Order: sequence, then structure tokens, then C-alpha cells
Amino acid sequence: MRIGVFGRGHVGAALGHALASAGHEVRYGVRDPAEAEDEEPGLVALPEAGRWGEVLLLGVPYGAVQEVLHAAGDLDRKIIVDPTNAPKPPTDERSSSQIIAGFVPTAKVVRAFNTVPAEVMLNPRFGEARASTFVCADDALARTTVLGLARDIGFDAVDAGPLKSACSIDRLLAVWRVLAFEGGLGRNLAFQLLRR
Ligand SMILES: NC(=O)c1ccc[n+]([C@@H]2O[C@H](COP(=O)([O-])OP(=O)(O)OC[C@H]3O[C@@H](n4cnc5c(N)ncnc54)[C@H](OP(=O)(O)O)[C@@H]3O)[C@@H](O)[C@H]2O)c1
Repeated sequence: MRIGVFGRGHVGAALGHALASAGHEVRYGVRDPAEAEDEEPGLVALPEAGRWGEVLLLGVPYGAVQEVLHAAGDLDRKIIVDPTNAPKPPTDERSSSQIIAGFVPTAKVVRAFNTVPAEVMLNPRFGEARASTFVCADDALARTTVLGLARDIGFDAVDAGPLKSACSIDRLLAVWRVLAFEGGLGRNLAFQLLRR
């Protein structure tokens, strides 16, 4: 698939690299591609990434999302993957992804990848085990598409239902942070769902 990644920081670069390695076409939408120091191929302006991508991925801080989506232009019917984390979750009733969906009402916002660090996005394999990522979206086809992309890059992709489910899924972040930082386990840490 053609994946337009907004931003080329930790998350954008990790997911972009993983998706390109899995055989997808990736272009990065950045603020000023002409001024990009490394002159990497695949860097384009935000509207070009928005037009070109079948799936768009938010690799920018939560606080910049509205501005970036506005700059990207017409995103009607695009699938937009949201791995961003708000500094403070908005409420227990409404996830930050639902707020983002409100910025682009005719696009299909999918919550995924936000409970794993960039290190795990780049490589979700832990020996024989695979990190789980929980995928939420109101549009079933968009959710299926992103579940497929997550599996392509090695995740155990779990269908977590509608976008509202992100309110509950996001609680995993607090647990991850406690274990990684207070528990001293470090950032190369992820959850795996067991089923039977
Ligand atoms: N890092 C992680 O392990 C991790 C894991 C899960 C979720 N997340 C979430 O993912 C999001 C991104 O995190 P990150 O660690 O990738 O951040 P980052 O490394 O700081 O990268 C942010 C990217 O966004 C771009 N950007 C910032 N403001 C922008 C704007 N107004 N317009 C266009 N581009 C803009 C930056 O471009 P410039 O270089 O031009 O400033 C940079 O490419 C955050 O919400 C974070 O909470 C992060």
C-alpha cells in the first residue's frame, strides 16, 4: 500500500522503516522538505503526502495533529492511523483519537501502535513472541486494513473494536510507563495478549 507518514521523528521513522521493509511504499510528509538536512528520498510536503497516501500515519506530537491535518488538505475517506498520545488523556468518555476524528470527520481514524515504544514499532519480535498492538476504529474496513499492516510488520494485531475502546486501551500506557521507568525494565518492553 502507499503509506504517507506525517513527521519523521521517532514514531514516523520507526513505523515508516518497518512498513517499507515489509514491502509497502512510504513517503514522509514534513514541514519543509527542501530544507531537510539529509535530503532523503521520500520526503515531501504535507499536502503531497496526504494526497498520495492511501493510508496516512500521524508521526507528530498530539498537540500538532490538528495543524498538520489542516495543512495536509483534503483527507476525505483516507485511513488515518493515530499512534499519538495526549500528554493527559482527555476523559474516560472520549479518547484522544475520537477528538482527532472530529478534526477530519470524513476520514477514517484508526487507533494503533500507541502503547508500544518506537523501539518496538521498529521490531515487535521478542524471540518467538510478538508484541501485541490494539487496533480500534469505527470503520470496520479501515480497522481490518490497519490490522493487516500491523501484522505485516510483525505485530500480534488485536481487534479492539470501535474508537471509543481506546479510552480503556490507553490505560496500558500508564502500566507500561511504571514498568519501564519506575520498575527499571527499560523501553524495550511490550505487552502480549494470551488467548485460548
Ligand atoms: N517515541 C515513542 O516511543 C512513542 C511511542 C508511542 C507513541 N508516541 C507518540 O507519538 C507521537 C510522536 O512522537 P515521537 O516520539 O515520534 O516525536 P518526535 O520524535 O519528537 O517527532 C515529532 C515529529 O513531528 C514533527 N512535527 C512537530 N510539530 C509539527 C508541526 N506543527 N507540523 C509538522 N510536523 C511537526 C517533527 O518535525 P521537526 O523535526 O520538523 O520538528 C518530527 O518529525 C507523540 O504523540 C507521542 O506521544 C511516541
